[in-house]
Order: sequence, then C-alpha cells, then structure tokens
Amino acid sequence: MQFASDNWAGASPRVLSAIAAGAAGFAPSYGRDDASAALGEAFSALFEREVAFVLTATGTAANALGLAALCPPDRVVLAHEEAHIVCDEVGAVEFFTHGARLVPIAGPQGKLTEQDVRTALARLTGPLSRGEAPGALSLTQATECGTVYRVEEVAALAALAREAGLAVHMDGARFANAVASLGCRPADITWRAGVDVLSLGGTKNGAMMAEAVIFFDPARAAGLDWRRKRGGHVVSKARLIASQFLALLEEGHWLDLARHANSMASRLAAGLAAMGFRVPWPAEANEVFPILPRAVAARLKANGAIFHSWPIAGLSEAEVPAEDEVLVRLVTSFATTPAEVERFLGIVSSE
Ligand SMILES: Cc1ncc(COP(=O)(O)O)c(C=O)c1O
Repeated sequence: MQFASDNWAGASPRVLSAIAAGAAGFAPSYGRDDASAALGEAFSALFEREVAFVLTATGTAANALGLAALCPPDRVVLAHEEAHIVCDEVGAVEFFTHGARLVPIAGPQGKLTEQDVRTALARLTGPLSRGEAPGALSLTQATECGTVYRVEEVAALAALAREAGLAVHMDGARFANAVASLGCRPADITWRAGVDVLSLGGTKNGAMMAEAVIFFDPARAAGLDWRRKRGGHVVSKARLIASQFLALLEEGHWLDLARHANSMASRLAAGLAAMGFRVPWPAEANEVFPILPRAVAARLKANGAIFHSWPIAGLSEAEVPAEDEVLVRLVTSFATTPAEVERFLGIVSSE
C-alpha cells in the first residue's frame, strides 16, 4: 500500500522498452539525435503549434529554467504559497533567474484566485508599491492540493497577468493528471489559455528522470542553452529522455497512465468520504488529502501502508484537524493497484 508519492513508483514497462530500444547503437549526443528531432515534432503535434523544448532530468530544473527564460533578475515571480517552487526547491528559481524573488500568495484548495492575484499585483504596482515589479506568474497544474484549474480559470489568471505585463509559467509536474481529469486538449489548458512556458512532467507520469520545458513561443527559448549548460542541465544522452517521452505520447499512453492514477485516487477519496471522513479538497487528480483519526493512521501504518502526514496550510477553520486527528496525503500513480486501494480502505473500516 504505497501512497507516499508518485515518485516512489518505478517506470511504465512501455517506457522501459523504449529506453532499451533507444539505447541500441550510437547516436549524436546533446539532443542532436533522431529521437530528439522526432520528439520536437511530437510535442508540436500534441500542442497543435510549433513549440521549442528542452529536456531536463528533474522538475526543479524544468521550473527554474523555464522561469529564468521568462523573468528578469530584478522582477518577482507570483506563485501559490504551497507551490513546489516556493516550498520545495530551495531557491532554485532565484538561483537560475539570478535573483528574481518569489512572492507566495494564499488561495483556497491550492489554487490562486483572480482576486488574490489582483490584490498581490495592486500591492506591488499600486500607490503603495515599495519598488518591486512583477515579472511572471506561475501556476501549478495539477495543484499541490490535488485540485485542477479549469480552462476558464487559467485563462482568467493569464489574462490578468498579461494585462499587468507578466509572463505565465505552468508547473506541470502532474500535467498528464490534469489533462486526464479535465478531458481537454493540452493546447486549451496551456497556450490557448495564455500560458507561455510549461514544465511538462514525465517522471511522475511513468517515465524516469524525464522532464521537458515547452516554449509555446520558440523565441522565448533563445539563449537558454547557455544558461542550461552553465547550470549543468544539458544532458548528453538526451535521446534516452526523448525516447521516454515518445513512448509516453505514443497511442495516448501518457493519458492512459494518468487516468489510471486518477481513478485510483477517486476510489480512495470516495471510499473515505463514504465512511464519513473529511476530505477537504476535492480529489481531482492523483492526490487525496483526508483527515484521519490518529489511531486510524497508526493502524494503517502498522499494517504496512506508506503515506505522509501533511502540513495544514490552506485549510479553513472548520477543516483544521482536531487534536486526535491528522491530515494525510495519499498519492496514487500508474503503478497503484485496485487491490492496494481496497486493502487500505478495508483497514480504515476495520475496528
Ligand atoms: C508540483 C511539483 N513540481 C515540481 C516537482 C519536481 O520535482 P523534482 O525536482 O523532484 O523532479 C514536483 C515533485 O514532487 C512537484 O510535486
């Protein structure tokens, strides 16, 4: 019963076969190979326009490089207070942008609202401005709370950003889960909604060490190669990352994997809610955040379930766990089995 993280899962067998096939023989290094060229075409087809891309081994590098391409050092990046770039990346964005500060903004269910972004922008640029200017807005899709921005929500936030002269970045470490959840075209939730750069996650989706930065305006990628090299993120055997993305995109494998992960999370959330446990944020992707009695959490752990307790930021007063309760995070993946989910729910319900 493995619900610690989608990073704890290995890799999809189809992806592994593609690595084995892609590793045969010799090919030019640093992305000058056929698989990388094919991936450029595949990404452009997926997003229904010509895109530029770079491949990285981590999502942190994808976020930091993507934002470095969008935000000058003397500007700030607006992001949700729970965003991975704010809480988990130890200043990587500041490092790669050469100093652009992150401004965390609170918002319900892991999402930024128009009102909250408007207020933050007014504070930065209005009469009470203390001299800082915004440069970019970063949205996480799916969010760190397991929720998903609707197309209209992204479009409204991006329009607000654009009006104020900001570029828009999307942290799509779980982009596949979001697209599977929304059932929309990848283009609709990205550039057609106003997103300039997407960090596209492959790793949580079923690949290994495979992330991409997608530039919907290829001109935005100009100069990034030097910054990437300097930061140590130009991968020599890029074809082995490209092969993984090609396998994910073939026959919609990426969405099949994400749909499976999402359905396992929905089953967990529905089962827990049916037993009367509070699940404060809707499980719209592959993460579920129930509030469990500590005794139930302990019983689950004693029976081999693996999951993390989670900080309670963003919960309304009514939702805050009592002394004898704990908010936990359950993450499902392409590798989660229905049997694991049923076993987990069975242990919860056993008294
Ligand atoms: C929302 C989000 N963004 C980005 C990342 C990228 O992380 P890493 O640098 O570990 O690949 C993660 C990983 O957990 C994440 O959850």
